[in-house]
Amino acid sequence: EREQHRSLVEVMSTAARFYREQLKASPRAVDYLKRRGLTGEVAAKFGIGYAPDGWQALDKAFPKYDEPALAEAGLVIDNEAGRRYDRFRDRIMFPIQDARGNVIAFGGRILDAGEPKYLNSPETPLFEKGRELYGLPQARIGIRETGTVIVVEGYMDVVALAQFGVCNAVATLGTATTPTHIQKLLRQADRLVFCFDGDKAGRKAARRGLEASLPHLADDKAVSFLFLPPEHDPDSFVRAHGADAFQSAARDATPLGRFLIDTLAEGCDLATAEGRAHLVHNAKEFIPKIGAPILKMQLVRDLAQSAQLGPDETAAALGLEVPRPR
Ligand code: CTP
Ligand code: MN
Ligand code: MN
Ligand code: MN
Ligand code: MN
Repeated sequence: EREQHRSLVEVMSTAARFYREQLKASPRAVDYLKRRGLTGEVAAKFGIGYAPDGWQALDKAFPKYDEPALAEAGLVIDNEAGRRYDRFRDRIMFPIQDARGNVIAFGGRILDAGEPKYLNSPETPLFEKGRELYGLPQARIGIRETGTVIVVEGYMDVVALAQFGVCNAVATLGTATTPTHIQKLLRQADRLVFCFDGDKAGRKAARRGLEASLPHLADDKAVSFLFLPPEHDPDSFVRAHGADAFQSAARDATPLGRFLIDTLAEGCDLATAEGRAHLVHNAKEFIPKIGAPILKMQLVRDLAQSAQLGPDETAAALGLEVPRPR
């Protein structure tokens, strides 16, 4: 298995090098990146490349195009007729790296309109979705220096923020944030700021991020949520408003506790007993999962206030143990 990993890592790094070279050879792809405002410098920092348009373009990088490792790495697809072809064709290629900088997968963006907009590597022995974060090796120093990690949705968000000097962002790659992601990140940072797109999908992703965070919260860590205007994602926001505006919005991000209680209260009319009961009912599924014991007590108090109950009554309603004076 070790051996297999090593050879897959080699295959992926060869492919990444090939895609980088092909970018230089494709004015159309370079032009696309320029139109998106990317500098050559930031494209190089993230190893961005281009997969040429052709069914077997990778045979130029791999003299043994028929070797099994190419399929195991998810770079080619074998059809029923036994013919092999490149998975990524005519796409901008974003290499996804593990914490050590090994390329373990790719995301490929179509240059023009078309479906799917992004094509990603399948799960392979190197790439387990839900564990990996795009941009982690590039963000490591920025995370250490600021004590903060910013979690965004997309490749372009990470790259654009870095170009504007916000060098501590990573992306979940369109999949939901998982507890594993959060655990990894809170080991490296004291503060985590979610900044998803301002659209409906982004707001839904924020709720998933909220849920994934609860078990890994600690009383000396801070998780918050930055909600962008509906027309923006971090890429478009930082290009339109600049890094200072982004940083100041990140500092003013909504703390997890407030976002949680607001979310739980959604659709509950707190002017009625029924609405207040509904709020506490909603909280049962979430507050007991909070891994930070002091924050949990604080939120029970906040909830009690909104529900117009005593803190002990509220804790009991949530099935939490109420400390008894002796
Ligand atoms: N995504 C994906 N497959 C898709 C669409 C999206 O894997 N078909 C993932 C990608 O990682 C993408 C992220 O979800 O970066 C966010 O999606 P979206 O906001 O639609 O794309 P952007 O990152 O904003 O890409 P762009 O700015 O290039 O349109
Ligand atoms: Mn989106
Ligand atoms: Mn987006
Ligand atoms: Mn975008
Ligand atoms: Mn705006």
